[in-house]
Amino acid sequence: MSENAVLTLPDGQSIELPVLTGSENEKAIDISKLRSQTKHITLDPGYVNTGACQSGITFLDGEKGILRYRGIPIEQLAENSSFMEVSYLLIHEKLPNQKELDDFHNEINHHALIHEDMRHFFESFSSEAHPMAILSAMVASLSAYYSEASGAASLGDVKQNAARLLSKIRTLAAFSFKKSIGQPFIYPRDSLSYCENFLRMMFAVPAEEYEPDKDVVDALNLLLILHADHEQNCSTSTVRGVGSSHANVYASVAAGILALWGPLHGGANQQVIEMLEHIRAEGGDVNKFVEMAKDPKSGFRLMGFGHRVYKNYDPRAKVIKGACDRVLAKLGVEDPILDIAKQLEERALSEDYFKERKLFPNVDFYSGIIYRAIGIPVNMFTVMFALGRLPGWIAQWKEMMEDPKSRIARPRQIYTGPIETPYMPIEKRK
Ligand code: CMC
Repeated sequence: MSENAVLTLPDGQSIELPVLTGSENEKAIDISKLRSQTKHITLDPGYVNTGACQSGITFLDGEKGILRYRGIPIEQLAENSSFMEVSYLLIHEKLPNQKELDDFHNEINHHALIHEDMRHFFESFSSEAHPMAILSAMVASLSAYYSEASGAASLGDVKQNAARLLSKIRTLAAFSFKKSIGQPFIYPRDSLSYCENFLRMMFAVPAEEYEPDKDVVDALNLLLILHADHEQNCSTSTVRGVGSSHANVYASVAAGILALWGPLHGGANQQVIEMLEHIRAEGGDVNKFVEMAKDPKSGFRLMGFGHRVYKNYDPRAKVIKGACDRVLAKLGVEDPILDIAKQLEERALSEDYFKERKLFPNVDFYSGIIYRAIGIPVNMFTVMFALGRLPGWIAQWKEMMEDPKSRIARPRQIYTGPIETPYMPIEKRK
């Protein structure tokens, strides 16, 4: 039975608004006819209360700390799955059987090379350039090579474009790292798994044999799975927003990469390590930094803490924290900032400031410690986040393009500027 909410406005007019219920019993008031019927809009800075779409990809309950991709709990995927399998699940809406997984993997390998011309683009970037700037520019440049992907046309071959993007972003990321350290590019190798291939392109040198370490491969798979989708966050909404104008999938993803770069979003993983290193350099006193974070005048926030949606421990952070000790022990790495991170968490969670605001460690708090242990340099952390988030962006872009109800993203505003003002000729202006 359909339910309605009734909204009564100050001028006395009243409107019935349909109430929608999601498959996990989430409720939403459908205001799509509000303006045409009442001349009113809604105002919701940061979209804290606004649903922009209906989606069947990821379910998130921030109060209970639940995250599921296509219904499957993140903990089970982290335990049993691979990044390739999760990518297939997100994009193609089901877990693949062995043949589907093999075909998907072969298709991804088939697209691993970038056009040789694109190699020369790397020469034009300064060696100081942040890898996120390079990555977004390179992903946007892919549109120039695969023009059949322009606009809605790319939906026609979403399978091929998804495989291209998943594969080439890995090559582009590794090449941008090689460029930054002045080493020759290492070409992809088809016999390797997704993560092995990436690690080889990152860390092999032509003069030596390279065998990816199994523990490192497993750790990388885990981190990429945990980042693979997170419903309508800032970068995903950007991908959908840009794609809603029927921009092609490469352009839409390039915009998502740039949105991810910000320190309040994916860029936080780099900031966390820099903050922990700073605490260590200052003598390791976490109290001082917790006090600073509590003081609004300080302008300092604990990076890797807090989340718009999670008002409970981020389930991804829980898995990563658990993996940290295990991975570091297996690799024989001792990292003093892991202790600092744990002390900082314990101290922060004992404070009313953090309890009242329900601020917990998020996915970025511990991820950098594992990235560092497996040899990923700090300025590549957000690139790793982008690699992980890519299947989610593609799945969300595809879902939006296939949704007959989807329209160009075009919010309204409440205008607060001057009322009509006559044009003043320049000689009369003060
Ligand atoms: N340290 C100290 N205080 C904080 C923090 C923090 N990390 N995060 C939020 N607060 C306080 C904030 O000052 C505010 O206090 P008050 O109510 O007294 O004004 C209250 O908590 C609510 O914060 P908000 O900024 O209104 O919350 P938001 O939902 O708009 O922002 C956030 C969410 C993630 C941007 C924010 O928590 C933050 O800046 N965290 C640090 C950056 C970070 O770790 N980002 C990664 C997010 S998870 C990965 C991803 O998906 O991108």
